[in-house]
Amino acid sequence: MAIIRTAFVIGHPIGHSRSPLIHRTWLARHGIAGDYRAVDVTSEKLPDFLARLRAGEDGFVGGNVTLPHKEAVFQLADHRDGIAEEIGAVNTLWREGDRICATNTDAYGFAANLDQQAPDWDRGGIAVVLGAGGASRAVVQALSKRPFEEIRIANRTYERAEAIATRFGGRSVAIRWEALAEAAAGAAFLVNTTSLSMGGPPGQQTLPPMDLSRLADGAVVNDIVYTPLVTPLLEAAAACGHRVVDGLGMLLHQAVPGFTRWFGTRPDVDAALRRTVIEDLAGRS
Ligand code: ATR
Repeated sequence: MAIIRTAFVIGHPIGHSRSPLIHRTWLARHGIAGDYRAVDVTSEKLPDFLARLRAGEDGFVGGNVTLPHKEAVFQLADHRDGIAEEIGAVNTLWREGDRICATNTDAYGFAANLDQQAPDWDRGGIAVVLGAGGASRAVVQALSKRPFEEIRIANRTYERAEAIATRFGGRSVAIRWEALAEAAAGAAFLVNTTSLSMGGPPGQQTLPPMDLSRLADGAVVNDIVYTPLVTPLLEAAAACGHRVVDGLGMLLHQAVPGFTRWFGTRPDVDAALRRTVIEDLAGRS
């Protein structure tokens, strides 16, 4: 009997994850006898799951890690690569002998999406990052590799922005939420990593406190939130004539390195895959 290579995504809750759809679409496209399964793992059960993975007991070749385990698995993995160390969180695992190795492909996915959708997005100038959570760290890591003059991180809780600016140093600086409007004037690139875009109770603010029309001419605006696909921020930015890039591509591109490692074929992020996931989001969200 042929051995089926199987990968996982672990998280809690995990029912909403589109990763199985993405990886199974690629498995089918490439005719690979593999599988990819969502596994609900609570924080209490996480050490046990990783012990079984290490021992090869569940037959997994590796997998993805999503909320709320990205930082805990960073601590529990046996080996982390340089990019995982920079970000302080992991989302992709594989086995080498009896060791669990870990990396973070979120920064890669963020940049690859923009490279594909707006190829000159990183032409320089000021980049503004809204938010200072885990996703923000991956975004700032990616931005720090591109030729921006300054990376301004604005967050409601200033201390968290400061912590990220300190972590990455160099051209990254923390900005107070109240100072965002001034700090973003003339910026060439703006990205939202906060949960503002997801909305909340009726009447709750969903736009950051700034005037989008004051961004630079030809600015690129990106939201890493992809539910809804066109967030209020992207809608408002497009109305100002800016180029907008939605966050679905980051989800698709971050999956590429894991699939390549587990299944030995580098898959494409193309319009057909995007359509498949958008149809699923429309049906299930
Ligand atoms: P993740 O790890 O997914 O990035 P997180 O750590 O919960 O998630 O961070 C959520 C981000 O959204 C934070 O930057 C948060 O700001 P605080 O650090 O001040 O909490 C931001 N955020 C959430 N709701 C917000 C709101 N109503 N206005 C502004 N920022 C908000």
